[in-house]
Amino acid sequence: MKLLAHILCLCLALALTWAQSQEAHTSAVLDRCQGLEMDAVTVNEEGIPYFFRGDHLFKGFHGKAELSNESFSELDDHHHLGHVDAAFRMHYEDSPSEHDHIFFFLDHKVFSYYQHKLEDGYPKDISEVFPGIPEHLDAAVECPKPGCDEDSVIFFKEDDIYFYDVKTKAVEKKDFESMPNCTSAFRFMEHFYCFRGHVFYKFDPKTGQVHEKYPKEARDYFMRCSKFSDDSDHLDRERCSRVHLDAITSDDAGNMYAFRGHHFLREDEGNDTLRADTIESAFKELHSEVDAVFTYEDHLYMIKDDQIFVYKVGEPHTHLEGYPKPVKEELGIEGPIDAAFICNDNHTAYIIKGQSMHSVDLKASPRVPGSEEQISPFKKVDAAMCDSEGIKVIVGNHFYHFASPKVFIAGRSLPEQQKVSLQLFGCDH
Ligand SMILES: *[C@@H]1O[C@H](CO)[C@@H](O)[C@H](O)[C@H]1NC(C)=O
Ligand SMILES: *[C@@H]1O[C@H](CO)[C@@H](O)[C@H](O)[C@H]1NC(C)=O
Ligand SMILES: *[C@@H]1O[C@H](CO)[C@@H](O)[C@H](O)[C@H]1NC(C)=O
Ligand SMILES: *[C@@H]1O[C@H](CO)[C@@H](O)[C@H](O)[C@H]1NC(C)=O
Repeated sequence: MKLLAHILCLCLALALTWAQSQEAHTSAVLDRCQGLEMDAVTVNEEGIPYFFRGDHLFKGFHGKAELSNESFSELDDHHHLGHVDAAFRMHYEDSPSEHDHIFFFLDHKVFSYYQHKLEDGYPKDISEVFPGIPEHLDAAVECPKPGCDEDSVIFFKEDDIYFYDVKTKAVEKKDFESMPNCTSAFRFMEHFYCFRGHVFYKFDPKTGQVHEKYPKEARDYFMRCSKFSDDSDHLDRERCSRVHLDAITSDDAGNMYAFRGHHFLREDEGNDTLRADTIESAFKELHSEVDAVFTYEDHLYMIKDDQIFVYKVGEPHTHLEGYPKPVKEELGIEGPIDAAFICNDNHTAYIIKGQSMHSVDLKASPRVPGSEEQISPFKKVDAAMCDSEGIKVIVGNHFYHFASPKVFIAGRSLPEQQKVSLQLFGCDH
């Protein structure tokens, strides 16, 4: 009996070690910051990027991999889901029955999903749905007008490029001479990207011409990683990254600071030269990944989780003694929060948490949150700032301008959507 127990124990221990080594193996393989090659990339209905690798899926710009079959279970039904060859989100406003459907290609089959459901009759043979398009594709990307002359889908297989006209179903083969063979392709914010290995190229969908600044590291621009490749150009990456900002503010002198992950961008008043640096180098106590920042009386109030750090603006910035403190103690609001701002010459801080915004009078003692307002146009705000021009509210890759907090709260209709990389940081590519 004793011996049996002993053997049992040994077996359990062995099984545990085995399970641990398996786990370690999987997570090591599936760290997107290691520079993974993706099999397919698309956006979902809300415009959030989905990166497919093997039988796993990475949603958005950060976070862990999940099994693809948890979101798209039918991909598994016909044969065990090894990988997805290609994927795209149809953009064809003339045909409501296809617009915004997500298509997946596996070997010779195509799957069409709409609002997370596989459509009746799918999967179908590729030749039935997209006649003239080969099996075992490498990549696919939608190309609506005016990106392409007609609403089209571009399919990639080795060095062959197929333009598929979604209205007439005509197929035209083209040569994209300067393009590499893409392993996945992606349309994001009206730009077209070809991924190959861990780098990507931005291309003109009509000609296949590649901008001279490419290739670039995919994880620098489409992943939120703490470490980048050694030759990564931090300034270019931070200006042009498609990953959302964490926080943004401008100090009393009009200098702007924008935070993302482990880095921040700074633009000085009267000087439109941007600089990028690590958060660690300028805000050592905070280290990285701040949630919200606002400026009040020459101090930067930086909120991370449920703590608030306060820095006196200067070269270098100095962290005030006694901080960090709980946000609750300093502002009367429970952290974490999403965004915060103060408008010029005012002492009211606006704190955004989910879809509600609290005002806090910083002159009051103790500080207590004032009225709570609902901000209906956005589900989640990433960052916000207020300067002499008004409020900029940043959501994903876009920002929206409001003249004042009143207008923002009242905001029934959305103002024009502007691009963070282009209009805020002047990234030209
Ligand atoms: C998804 O795939 C995994 C691994 O192949 C399998 O263990 C699991 O049962 C599948 N889940 C669903 C919901 O099909
Ligand atoms: C692209 O694919 C073609 C056809 O398979 C092959 O001949 C060529 O070497 C590939 N190019 C690169 C850069 O891998
Ligand atoms: C703007 O900033 C850059 C980088 O810090 C600096 O080299 C340059 O001299 C500044 N220009 C002006 C006009 O202040
Ligand atoms: C500051 O903001 C509060 C709340 O929006 C407003 O009532 C007050 O008039 C503002 N004060 C100044 C000086 O703009």
